[in-house]
Amino acid sequence: MDDAWNQSFAVLRQLSAEDFRSGAEISRQLRVSRASVHNLVERARGLGVMIHAVPGRGYRLAEPCSWLDAEALRAGLLPGYRLTLEQVCDSTNSRLLALAARGEAHKSVLAAEWQTGGRGRRGRAWLAAPGAGLTFSLLWRFNRPLTALSGLSLAVGVALAEALEATGALGIGLKWPNDVLAGGAKLAGILIETQGDMLSNATAVIGVGLNVRAAPSLPEAATVALAELIDADIDRNRLLTRVLVSLDRVLEAFDRHGFAPLREAWQARHVWQGKPVRVMGGAGPVEGVALGVDAAGVLRIETIDGVQVIHAGEVSLRPGTFV
Ligand code: BTN
Repeated sequence: MDDAWNQSFAVLRQLSAEDFRSGAEISRQLRVSRASVHNLVERARGLGVMIHAVPGRGYRLAEPCSWLDAEALRAGLLPGYRLTLEQVCDSTNSRLLALAARGEAHKSVLAAEWQTGGRGRRGRAWLAAPGAGLTFSLLWRFNRPLTALSGLSLAVGVALAEALEATGALGIGLKWPNDVLAGGAKLAGILIETQGDMLSNATAVIGVGLNVRAAPSLPEAATVALAELIDADIDRNRLLTRVLVSLDRVLEAFDRHGFAPLREAWQARHVWQGKPVRVMGGAGPVEGVALGVDAAGVLRIETIDGVQVIHAGEVSLRPGTFV
């Protein structure tokens, strides 16, 4: 990471939503010029951080923000976990995949305040302003081969839903194969990338992007943030450790028994259960009523030609009623 990014984050950590902090004070504290403080604030604004600037008073965050703190995070980790916190990283998934190939340990976590090249599924980008979300990846070395990871992304969805519900959020739903929704809008996304061959034990990098506060980078109609669902301040450090504890419980179960024991928990939150859907898969669109998933996490659709199973694809609500 270059120095200017480091310094932008150092400036952000000097600011709060409660009081104005003068440019002079920040410049003294960080030993940089007033002009540099101005430029660093502008840089942070360019990333989507909302900062009020009032001549004569200084700078103030538009909304309260709990910055990620490596010590606070490590204090909340379960034994066996190793956490690295980066202020800026290209993509926590890309970085952890590279580390995994060089032998990085099971249960390593890489979290970043901001990703310059956050990746979503199907080549899409994942955008999150610093402080507005959680973006992290977890390295898991399974005791099962790649061929036995069916349903893993659904299992991760269950872990996220349970952790979010524990914060008091209501109405969390899961969309096959791996989106976490609330009120029909996307709250979190999951990107799982694997290493290994068909026979040896598989390694997965499980990337999670979770919207915590609404930010200009979120396309409003399609996304929702946790802060809109709960009536309490969100401590992102606590939230991340809570999510990691939930992931640990679910992934340990998945590693031992596969998706089957988690199926009911997934299905109870399935947003399109019993509804007409269109699935865009490899073999063209399939239309019918979503029956839910089987013990391997495969989606079952009742079509006019009988029940069809879908292993991979994107589901959308089908307009009109299925008869
Ligand atoms: C999706 O819904 O398309 C998946 C989004 C996954 C985003 C996360 S953010 C942390 C990790 N690093 C990445 O580059 N992507 C994942």
